[in-house]
Amino acid sequence: MTAPVIEVTHPLVQHKLSIMRDKSTPTPLFRQLLKEISQLLAYEITREMPLTTHHIETPMGGMEAPILEGRKLALISILRAGNGLMDGVLELIPTARVGFVGLYRDEETLKPVEYYYKVPKALEERLVIAVDPMLATGNSSVAAIDLLKKSGAKNIRFMCLLAAPEGIARMQEAHPDVAIVTGSIDECLNDVGYIVPGLGDAGDRIYGTT
Ligand code: URA
Repeated sequence: MTAPVIEVTHPLVQHKLSIMRDKSTPTPLFRQLLKEISQLLAYEITREMPLTTHHIETPMGGMEAPILEGRKLALISILRAGNGLMDGVLELIPTARVGFVGLYRDEETLKPVEYYYKVPKALEERLVIAVDPMLATGNSSVAAIDLLKKSGAKNIRFMCLLAAPEGIARMQEAHPDVAIVTGSIDECLNDVGYIVPGLGDAGDRIYGTT
């Protein structure tokens, strides 16, 4: 069975996303909105995290209080744009362990090449959330998840701001077990692999580069 693709249609996400798409939105506001949306997406992607209970004393007496079960989750940024989603999620889940996957596209083979890889230990025991704002062709996201699986990750979810149908199809073909949470499923890719209507180059818009 293929894991679900969840488009977060919450009005706050959609409103903030529309401001981000607008090409006149300045870098500081773009970055702030990305951080805010990352928290709303994180709320959705962590919805089924298992709970256990722990005895505490409230001022009124004892109770078995729900707390998250198991190892801390692993949050993996696919560089560089993934970093724009990290701070917001870490504010919400400060105990998360953090990893980074850096890939660039070889212009001759068009295949992703790894240039940086550092992830938390015991990935096989953690919920692993890989983040990249744009699921476009899916090539780098699929390659990043290949690497995470090689490191032992078994329970992986993918969080993005925008997804193209082509990228979703690619991800589902390569990694049908990976659920996708996105702020929007856009129309298509253009002929250079950008999402339409999209928001342009996410990295450039986060960091003010061109
Ligand atoms: N990466 C981006 O930053 N934007 C796109 O539209 C596609 C890939």
